[in-house]
Amino acid sequence: MLVFFTHALTRIYHQKEAGCMAGTPKHLIDWKYRDDAEIREVLALARRVKRQRWEFQGHLQGRTLVMIFQKTSTRTRVSFEAGMTELGGHAINLDWHTTNFTLSDIRSETRYLSRNSAFIMARLRSHSDLLDMAAGATVPVINGCCNLYHPCQALADMLTIAEDRDADPGGARLTYIGAYNNVVNSLVSISAALGVELTLVCPIRDRALVDEESRSRLLGLGLLTETLDAKAAVADADYVYTDTWIDMEYFNDPAFAGEKDRRCELMLPYQVNAALLADSHAKVMHDMPMHLGFEITGEVAESERSIIYDQAENRLDAQKAILLTLA
Ligand code: CP
Repeated sequence: MLVFFTHALTRIYHQKEAGCMAGTPKHLIDWKYRDDAEIREVLALARRVKRQRWEFQGHLQGRTLVMIFQKTSTRTRVSFEAGMTELGGHAINLDWHTTNFTLSDIRSETRYLSRNSAFIMARLRSHSDLLDMAAGATVPVINGCCNLYHPCQALADMLTIAEDRDADPGGARLTYIGAYNNVVNSLVSISAALGVELTLVCPIRDRALVDEESRSRLLGLGLLTETLDAKAAVADADYVYTDTWIDMEYFNDPAFAGEKDRRCELMLPYQVNAALLADSHAKVMHDMPMHLGFEITGEVAESERSIIYDQAENRLDAQKAILLTLA
């Protein structure tokens, strides 16, 4: 009872922090700020949107989404823009570096954006800047990936698992191998809501980037296993998921070259390859972009067990479900 009460209080505090209280627009900062029932509904909507795409044509007619990127993107950019088009709305793409966000403060620029749009989707480097944007917005702000969370990706991941099983993801055994990063934080929070059994193999773990609250919740639910034995972790897994060992903004940064070499040497024994998966029936997932020969081999990425392109395609229906829910 005390645990439940503490959890409820913590959630109220964080909902306030993330701008989700009554009287403010609903934002999607991470799934940890949303109720489990609501997450199940969004996932069910994403499945319906994918099965019956025609049914939702025109549902966002006359609405504009402003997308703003501080970092590169292929899938997030394309799927949100295609999603808005297919729902009858329109998306405007802004490169942060060509806007007056570079000259002004986040809250006032966002307050203006809210006057000319129905939603804002932002890919910002810093979570605190994202919270600043949410605080300045009078329309929903969707986190398109910050340093701490990637909730849109996590919903597409769960849609992919649900589709593959033709059932809810609850009870699915998902093993993630890689750095403990923003994708992991959102996988942890959505797994708690949906009952996914998550095993983490994360030799790289920067404590400042780990959402301990979400991790503790999943542990408390008995749904989280952590190990560095990758072979054992894939043996009984239904899905094996990997991601880049180096965040996208550092991948080609000469100043990060030394750290990149260190990470590659540390992580190479954890590469998702045919030898690792030899005794496993697991299907393979990756949120893309892939770095073939690093976290995953081309052979595995293109093999029959790979559902990576379904997962990437599912960003579209996941984004649509998020937009329809927040509209
Ligand atoms: N997975 C993902 O967010 O892809 P992009 O970085 O290409 O948007």
